[in-house]
Amino acid sequence: MLSFFKVKKNNENNDENDKIEIDMNNIPKHIAIIMDGNGRWARERNLPRTMGHKAGVEAIREIVKEASTLGVKYLTLYAFSTENWKRPSDEVGALMNLLVQYLKKEFKELNNNNVIIKHIGDISKLPSACQKELIDAYNNTKNNTGLTLNLALNYGGRNEIVRAFNLIYEDIKSHKLSEECIDETVISKYMYTSNMPDPDLIIRPSGEQRLSNFLLWQCAYSEFWYSNIKWPDFGKKDLHKAIYDYQNRDRRFGGVK
Ligand code: FPP
Repeated sequence: MLSFFKVKKNNENNDENDKIEIDMNNIPKHIAIIMDGNGRWARERNLPRTMGHKAGVEAIREIVKEASTLGVKYLTLYAFSTENWKRPSDEVGALMNLLVQYLKKEFKELNNNNVIIKHIGDISKLPSACQKELIDAYNNTKNNTGLTLNLALNYGGRNEIVRAFNLIYEDIKSHKLSEECIDETVISKYMYTSNMPDPDLIIRPSGEQRLSNFLLWQCAYSEFWYSNIKWPDFGKKDLHKAIYDYQNRDRRFGGVK
């Protein structure tokens, strides 16, 4: 099944609108997004950085809704990395408040839309109000069957791998796991993303072309999509473009066709 969407094609500054075809039978199962560019978006408007993050939350609303409508099964959003603690404390505080507000405000609609609200990362270091909202949101949506919205919070790919090594070591010591059994499948089970497919598509807006410690284990064969648009301006037409490009890639997973 093909669906037609009207988007600006090829050149973001080009006003010519084209229709692109999205193959509804080849929607990526798991899309992961590095929501970058909030600070620069705010600076361009002479606003404080926190206003950029606030505008970023609006973009989250639109993208979660659209991903859900398209039938994406997992959407992982990089909201706060293990390195983001280096930011000024008022910015960190504002991000934590936005998270609590987002979960309180959006819970009902997300739940009505059958969304499972999950998180990855070490949330024990987040303020207790954030932990409570995240745990409640998960407990109250875990039986839903639609999109899994996976919020990466105090998440770092290297930290996740170290954590997995330690958990594996503990399980070997307590004879829950035998060292002969360790393979890629077993290691994947010790990641925060256990039981989720690896991301098919990783999107990074704002012009930066790096992974920034995101899903290092899981991205082995992910397709990357970059754009100069800053995250607060990223809308459903950009999601359609990314999916359209993804559908036109030749994924060989190291093999040949
Ligand atoms: C990167 O842009 C963005 C972040 C570190 C935070 C992303 C958070 C949100 C979009 C809102 C809060 C999250 C939730 C789930 C409610 P940047 O600040 O590094 O931008 P810059 O590179 O232009 O400075």
